[in-house]
Amino acid sequence: MDQRPLGVFDSGLGGLTAVRELRSILPSENIIYFGDTSRVPYGGRSEEILLHYARQDVHFLRSFDIKAILVACGTVSTTALPVLQRENDLPILGVVEPACRRAAAKTRNKRVGLIATAASVRSGAYERTLQQLDPEIQVVGKACPLFVPLVENGRFHRGDVVIETVAREYLEPMKAQGMDTLILGCTHYPLLTEIVQEIMGDDVTLINVGQEAAWELKRTLEQKNMCSDAPQGELNLYVSDRPDDFGALASQFLQQELRGAVGSVDIEQY
Ligand code: DGL
Repeated sequence: MDQRPLGVFDSGLGGLTAVRELRSILPSENIIYFGDTSRVPYGGRSEEILLHYARQDVHFLRSFDIKAILVACGTVSTTALPVLQRENDLPILGVVEPACRRAAAKTRNKRVGLIATAASVRSGAYERTLQQLDPEIQVVGKACPLFVPLVENGRFHRGDVVIETVAREYLEPMKAQGMDTLILGCTHYPLLTEIVQEIMGDDVTLINVGQEAAWELKRTLEQKNMCSDAPQGELNLYVSDRPDDFGALASQFLQQELRGAVGSVDIEQY
């Protein structure tokens, strides 16, 4: 048993899609979450900058005595994960592999769609992983750069004409390509599940990368005998910009009152 907290990070709100799943499947775990809200979005940046940011995010989380890290960010997972794993002596998991395994198991017609940030699509990481799992799978990828800023501004509800218009523009050409499985390759995108599902239709299976990664982390902790047995785990949130709006959106999304205040971090110090 290991009561030390888990560290989870993303550029902003998106990684909470993994946290929501972790809270449900690992309720005893203490979680420290960092959202790098002063530098969101990550998705258009170069690999060098992303690695620099990711190292600082990990460094901040490691200022606590954590036992493992979930990189709840598709963009960092696709561009910087192997370096972070080499540089750190604790388990660090990303979102790509678990999501691809689920997609490969789900697809029947071997046509898998991928929507993600520009950096993730450019990296080719999801395609490579899917091809290794099943060389017959064809991947249709598309970058959706406007999704993250809209979600960060709370524009993720059905009926919001701005997000619905943008989503239709991105997704209708994807739908025409006949995929039966769509990877939501950025952890912000599951906040748009209802909107995406309505456009793609009920026959298309959506893969939530944060959720799949949460299950992978559960399996890893169990294998390593590192689970906590505390009666109830705590969630502590930190951000690198104003905490107020983040707290309100986070509690709305997690559907729970946050116990403590959201902490503020000067990430350039790390
Ligand atoms: N949630 C991040 C991801 O999964 C968003 C990246 C961004 O900030 O653009 O890629």
